[in-house]
Amino acid sequence: MRTQVGIVGSGPSGLLLAQILAQQGIESIIVENRSREYVEARVRAGVIEHGAVDVLTRAGVGDRLHREGLRHDGVHLQWPGERRRIDFVDACGQSVWVYGQTEITKDLINIRVSDGQQIHWEASDTAIVGADTDHPQITFVDVDGKPQTVECDYVAGCDGFHGASRPTIPESVRSVAQRVYPFAWLGILAEVAPSTDELIYAWHPDGFAMHSMRSDKVSRLYLQVAPDDDIANWSDDRIWDGLSTRMALDGWTLQSGPTLEKSITPMRSFVSSPMRWGRLFLAGDASHIVPPTGAKGLNLAIADVTKLGAALAMAIQQGKVDLIDSYSDDALRRVWQSTHFSWWMTSMLHTPPSADPDAAFLRQMQITQLDYVTSSTAAAAGLAENYTGAVLPY
Ligand code: FAD
Ligand code: DHB
Repeated sequence: MRTQVGIVGSGPSGLLLAQILAQQGIESIIVENRSREYVEARVRAGVIEHGAVDVLTRAGVGDRLHREGLRHDGVHLQWPGERRRIDFVDACGQSVWVYGQTEITKDLINIRVSDGQQIHWEASDTAIVGADTDHPQITFVDVDGKPQTVECDYVAGCDGFHGASRPTIPESVRSVAQRVYPFAWLGILAEVAPSTDELIYAWHPDGFAMHSMRSDKVSRLYLQVAPDDDIANWSDDRIWDGLSTRMALDGWTLQSGPTLEKSITPMRSFVSSPMRWGRLFLAGDASHIVPPTGAKGLNLAIADVTKLGAALAMAIQQGKVDLIDSYSDDALRRVWQSTHFSWWMTSMLHTPPSADPDAAFLRQMQITQLDYVTSSTAAAAGLAENYTGAVLPY
């Protein structure tokens, strides 16, 4: 097989890149190690930045998002006895949209498949060969067990944190900055109307809790748990009790309902740079991971491929390499900004483990920060700019 851009991974970054390239008449082939059903069912992020909504709309996958997505003009921050709202529109003139990553993925797969996109589902042993030459290849074993090779002009590594792309770049040319947090998120999807109009991020001595949503019938909620905790330790009753205690407020009740999905996700900040090696370009989780507080992972993936799509189009159609040469530096500017914001939100909202000798001090710093960010117009604007993505242009 031969193509202009070989794409490893059909998560949001790989699919959106294929769509952006196709709009400009550029061919691609996607190699994905899971099945279409698995990829479409994977429950993950749900908050889409203003600029990311614009990108999806321009890419021709905004119709359902605009119909079914929920525009949120603000967010609630809470600690015991207080729930305060930050108004994004007042603070920075932008909003966010609540629309599940599963839905974005389905929308992208539908449009790519109806357009004739080659996607090799359930591939195994994916490898990128000759990335530092003019003739890179993706090799894999297809769903029928047959070895395959895709000859490419360029390769996009969009295969997430555990994929094959990043390890292809020699350690000698790669640097990694990371932080592993001493907590994790237990997330549930529940069949119950949200008990709030906008998201609630709640600090509590027992640990952080969050209330998000997917529609007027489905809620998404999270609890801070220990990183080594097991989902088997958490019955539905225990989860709802924890959520109710941590988000309690006089005059407000959390409605519970049947859980549709539950899982525990570890939390880390991780950035591998540069995001390019020869003709291999990394995008999304393949290159960086943020803790989920602040909802930046999916948005960064969208921002990366917006830049990468434009850069590859310029190189392929005009023979100009300026944008592919600056891709890594351009993308990393937003990556570091979102990494900082996610680290800051995580540090402000998660209760330190009680064994931490500084726990009492850190808790007081967190409450002081929450009070400040919800009472100072300038501080609230900083949060709003980062949360909505207004802080940097797409
Ligand atoms: P991915 O979505 O990881 O897609 C990569 C694709 O590559 C996958 O389809 C994978 O199957 C495929 N792949 C992997 N290895 C190979 C291989 N060797 N060969 C071929 N294909 C391969 N972000 C938030 O903002 N909020 C959240 O609540 C949130 N929750 C999350 C929960 C979990 C469990 C995880 C893992 C992430 C979560 N994120 C969240 C982050 C967000 O979902 C990611 O940032 C986003 O999915 C990144 O998209 P991506 O396309 O770069 O990577
Ligand atoms: C959701 C996830 C997040 O990480 C976040 O900060 C807000 C909302 C969600 O899944 O809806």
